[in-house]
Amino acid sequence: MTLAELMPTLGESLRGHLEPGIWPRSTAHGVDGDLLLGGVPLTQLAARFGTPCYLLDELTVRQHCQEYRAVLPDVEIAYAGKSMTSRGVLRWIAEEGLSLDVCSAGELAVARSVDFPAARILFHGNVKTPEDLKAAIAYGVDRIVVDSLDEIDQLGALARYPQNVLIRVTPGVDGHTHKAIATGVEDQKFGFSLRSGAALEAVARVLAQPSLRLVGLHCHIGSQVSRVASFEEAARLMVGLMATVQARFGLSLAQLDLGGGHAVPYRCGDPSFDLQGYADRIRRAVNFECSSHRLPPPHLIIEPGRAIVGSAGVTLYRVITVKHGASRTFVAVDGGMSDNPRPSLYGARYSVRPVGRRFSPLGRPVTVVGRHCEAGDVLAEDVVLPSDIHPGDLLAVPCTGAYHHSLASNYNLVGRPPVVSVRDGVARLLIRRETEDDLLARDLG
Ligand code: LLP
Repeated sequence: MTLAELMPTLGESLRGHLEPGIWPRSTAHGVDGDLLLGGVPLTQLAARFGTPCYLLDELTVRQHCQEYRAVLPDVEIAYAGKSMTSRGVLRWIAEEGLSLDVCSAGELAVARSVDFPAARILFHGNVKTPEDLKAAIAYGVDRIVVDSLDEIDQLGALARYPQNVLIRVTPGVDGHTHKAIATGVEDQKFGFSLRSGAALEAVARVLAQPSLRLVGLHCHIGSQVSRVASFEEAARLMVGLMATVQARFGLSLAQLDLGGGHAVPYRCGDPSFDLQGYADRIRRAVNFECSSHRLPPPHLIIEPGRAIVGSAGVTLYRVITVKHGASRTFVAVDGGMSDNPRPSLYGARYSVRPVGRRFSPLGRPVTVVGRHCEAGDVLAEDVVLPSDIHPGDLLAVPCTGAYHHSLASNYNLVGRPPVVSVRDGVARLLIRRETEDDLLARDLG
């Protein structure tokens, strides 16, 4: 049997099967090819909120928080807000007892608006403007992670003692991820190099600022990293640096932040992250290095973003046209790179599932493209959809909870989609769709 002959049967089984780890936990089959999310049919959500539309499963977000806390009970888990910030999401994060990593006055403003406890906020970023620093100080953000000598001076001048700081270190560890999101390697804009001695220079510079109190070190080796060994290597190097700081400055650093970057699968077969293995190996590596350097084990912090919200999200699109090109079929939808630039930025691959009607057998692989004025505006390549896919059909793309809404633009002045959360049969509009009035409101003529 050829692959083409197998497709229809394969299609039936694919349609019956929801790849675990990719779809939100509450996803279930509905009638006539519909799917339910949080007990609400996707067809109903599309009709009520329009398309494209970002959906978020509250249960999945909360369960991920609970799993991190259960596996790492002695570690501070700080949700990386850059992956998806909204008041609703930050309320869930606060209720689940996580801390929060923000990296702009804007993200902090959302956190502040839900009274996210300042004692549980870390402020990051390789560039913090004076406005960012002032906002962090005014809210009493507990820890600011400094990233340059200039910033240390600028913060030192603005802060009042004791402003806790961590120093962001580049440990020189390869996370084996896409170049654009590999932040642990040398010769890039983030942090102070461990190898060159820049990290020690930063320690001296912080200690020279009377308003700052150095409480620890931070590293983030990159995003979508699945190799636990890379995190382990970074942890060992960072404890080694803590020992050097102790020897050189007589300073015992109480905190070690190992960053985020834990990978999630976007498609069936993608590598997933072994959280239990990570917890065991990190703990062992830190304890071993600490005891060999005669250091007390530090308070550990980690900063997962994608692993908390990624698979909680699904984006709904409506098919607008189907075009048969010379060698490919293009299924064009009402969204695109403005709501998901990840394929064009990182070559990210997604799976796509038709929902809401009975479909005929699967056809040949197609390319799902967006509505924007660029040939690179592709959402998913080589995906198998029903042969009778046509305008009006609804498509669902899973694993869009992280770095989708937060990376969205209004390119071509297409308004950004709404974010809708679902739970126990109830849908709630967290962020409304961007309208033409919103676009015009900023354009003062
Ligand atoms: N901590 C720091 C200091 C970070 O810079 C980041 C992500 C995280 C934690 C969280 O990483 P996560 O666990 O979410 O992977 N736009 C890219 C990802 C950029 C990540 C930037 N920093 C993407 O869509 O893949």
